[in-house]
Amino acid sequence: GRLSIGLDVGGTKIAAGVVDADGEVVERVPPLPSSATDQAAMLRTLSAVVEELRTRHPGVVAIGVGAAGLVHWPEGRIRTAPNNTYRDLPLRHVLQDSTGLPTVVDNDANAACWAEYRKGHSASYMAFITVGTGVGGGVVLADRLFRGRTGIAMEIGHMIVDPHGGERCGCGNTGCLEPLASGPALGRYGSAAAAAEPGGMLATLAGDPAKVTGETVSAAALAGDPGALAQLERLGGWLGIGVATLVNLFDVELVVVGGGVAEVGDPLLAPIRSHFARFVTAAGHRELPDIRPARLGPEAGWIGAALLALDQEEAGTA
Ligand code: BGC
Ligand code: NA
Ligand code: ZN
Repeated sequence: GRLSIGLDVGGTKIAAGVVDADGEVVERVPPLPSSATDQAAMLRTLSAVVEELRTRHPGVVAIGVGAAGLVHWPEGRIRTAPNNTYRDLPLRHVLQDSTGLPTVVDNDANAACWAEYRKGHSASYMAFITVGTGVGGGVVLADRLFRGRTGIAMEIGHMIVDPHGGERCGCGNTGCLEPLASGPALGRYGSAAAAAEPGGMLATLAGDPAKVTGETVSAAALAGDPGALAQLERLGGWLGIGVATLVNLFDVELVVVGGGVAEVGDPLLAPIRSHFARFVTAAGHRELPDIRPARLGPEAGWIGAALLALDQEEAGTA
């Protein structure tokens, strides 16, 4: 049958694999570093993965890439990204020329949203938020992925939530959701907590307060450490505020939360839900949407990109 290669270029990792026409995973490759400092190295990694997967799967008819950052749709040109060095990169053309296969390139969170819509938690009106190195979003409205005029809608990580007290964002602005609610933000919160409590679990796990990462905080939270749980509550609180605004704007019935940080589950989901309910407008006069963890987990991005590529190939528009 027809197969498709999906690639997800995040702020720190590249994830990839092959799906069939139903979006079932045929093969997944172990995540590779995304070489955030070097565009040429990133391109070499993508080509090598594609060649390797094509050799093993002759049924591959299309390539889909979800890339962190502002990606022109349908041109597949990456304009810029706060956590990657690529700038004005015509990635779709580059890959299409070098492989001869029809290719699509979309924003990573848009792609992940599409994967959940097709294969995970699905609703005709749904939003998706990814929490990792960056904070990104996607939205399906009336069963269609909404991309705005040129593909760069739903940059939820750059929603301004605290212009006066907030941190500086990788995009250059101050007050964005991302520097308050991303994986690196969780690491920062954790470092401060570890420094304040040198004998605590966070400091012990990391060895040195400065070495606490988002993963350290999640591990400590899952082991029941109250200090770590408090940091996830802080992160989830900001995300819940972002979700409230999304729901105010788009009236979705479902919000899916994915990305690496969401893997921790309830310690993040619970504060998202409570802050959402506290801040959404007219809470007593509307049906509150379900807020669920991504069913496809951190694989949503590449699976969605592969599915988008098959859809386009089938429609003859890739
Ligand atoms: C970028 C988005 C991306 C998100 C998740 C943000 O920093 O601006 O385009 O979707 O990170 O990777
Ligand atoms: Na998006
Ligand atoms: Zn920003």
